[in-house]
Parts: sequence; C-alpha cells; structure tokens
Amino acid sequence: MVAAASPNTIQNYKQQTDFFEMARFHFMDDLKNVSNYKSEVIEFVTSPNNPDGFLKKAVLKGNSVKSIYDYAYYWSHFTAIPAPADEDVMIFSISKLTGHAGGRFGWALVKDKQIYDNMIRYICLAEMGVSRDTQLRALQLLRAILQGNGKEIFRFAYKTMGDRWEQLNQIISSSTRFTIQEIPPQFCNFFQQVRGPSPAYAWVKCERKEDSNCAEVLSRAKITGRRGSMFGSDDRYARLSLIRRQDDFNLLIHRLTVLVSEENRAESM
Ligand SMILES: Cc1ncc(COP(=O)(O)O)c(C=O)c1O
Repeated sequence: MVAAASPNTIQNYKQQTDFFEMARFHFMDDLKNVSNYKSEVIEFVTSPNNPDGFLKKAVLKGNSVKSIYDYAYYWSHFTAIPAPADEDVMIFSISKLTGHAGGRFGWALVKDKQIYDNMIRYICLAEMGVSRDTQLRALQLLRAILQGNGKEIFRFAYKTMGDRWEQLNQIISSSTRFTIQEIPPQFCNFFQQVRGPSPAYAWVKCERKEDSNCAEVLSRAKITGRRGSMFGSDDRYARLSLIRRQDDFNLLIHRLTVLVSEENRAESM
C-alpha cells in the first residue's frame, strides 16, 4: 500500500510512515510516480495547505485510491470556505480553531462504517483513549465558543488574521528581496461574501540568488522561521507563523520593517 502527498506540505505523514516502517506501507512524495505502483493508495490532502494556505483537492483518482483530508486549517479565519466540507474521510483539530495547539484533541468525519470502526479500534489500542483532562479542556473551549450566537470567534479571528496579513503584505510589497504567496480573494459560504486572504502562515521566498537559505537570512534579523526543506521544499523559502500572540506578531512586524528598510536604504545609496 502506498501513502502519498504533494510536495511542499507538512512532512508529518511522510515521517510517520517512514518511522513505523510498516511492511504494508510505503510513502511517496512525488505523486507523479504513484501510478507506476499497482497498489492501493492513500493520499493525504492538507487543505488549506501548511505552509502556503492554498486550498487543495486530491490529485489521484481511481478505485484503488482513498483520500484523507486534513482540515486542521479549514476554518473561516484562515480561508474562504468555498463549500461545506463533504469528503469521505476528514480530520479536524481543535488546536487551530481556538489557538490551543498542542492539546492533541481532534475529531474525524468519516462516511464508511468500517473505516470508522478501524479508527476507534486504533485509538483504543494505541492511545488507550483520549486523555480525560484533554477532553475536559476541549469541552470548556467548545462551551466558550458557543456562548452568544456561536459565530463571534470566527468574526474576531478572521478580522485578526486578515489585519495581520495586510500589515505583513504592506511591508513585503515594498521589498524586492522577499516575496510571499498570493492568495486570491474568494467567495466564502460561511460569511456569505467575497473575502481576502488571512492565512496562518506566510510562505516567504528570498529572491536574491545569494540568499539560498531564507530562514538564515531572517534569523540574522532576529526573525524565527522554519526552513523550506522542513516542508519538502527549497530552503530559498521559509515559513513565518502569523498565529502567535499579539506581542510576538508586533515584534515580527517591527523586525521585518527594519530589515526591509535597510534593504531599501542600501538600494537608494
Ligand atoms: C496540517 C496539520 N495537521 C495537523 C496538525 C496537528 O494538529 P494538533 O496540534 O491538533 O495535533 C497540524 C499542526 O500544526 C497541522 O499543521
């Protein structure tokens, strides 16, 4: 059996498949080569994608292909919701919904009863169930979300993320050294309007030939990002997190402003 995902995405599924070295599974990150395998295939689809925030659809089709949609970021604060989620296997997590990453609390919507039973069995055997502390915490969070009309968190979080993206975009647009991904405006079924981008991460590209390690370039300006190669991509890219606390974000904006204005000053001399 082959597990597969597009390049330029989080590497956890690859690392897990490789680590457990299960005789029946083999990971491929170049989807083009998968068709050479006469085997059943599971495709992981992360949508919106981590790191670049683009909405994705399964690439592979056919009777021997199953897709697992990782919808950790499929919330209206990170992306327009073009349609209600309706895939066969969809996994969700509370971490990016409320900003409580690390809680390891998630859920799945699964259409096939046999897959559902297998998942329950796996959780019981491998995890001995979900920690009661974690369940209590998640319950508290869900109760807080449901206060009022249950939509306030989405409005607040979309506004926060949209504002952050605008601030960042403004700085980067005055730079020729750095670029970030362009996410087009799209109609959102949840907000019932066309809306601009508000992704969780900026996928920064260092454009100068000599800046082949973008995370290192940023690090010299005291900006911490993750190297592109951690996402199966090139180190000319780096991922910056926009979902940190407000004071961390302010510091990021301050340091980026300094970095870009130094560049502009050097160019005007
Ligand atoms: C695409 C994606 N899926 C799943 C997870 C894991 O979610 P959790 O923190 O709830 O385990 C992450 C965390 O960063 C993620 O980026």
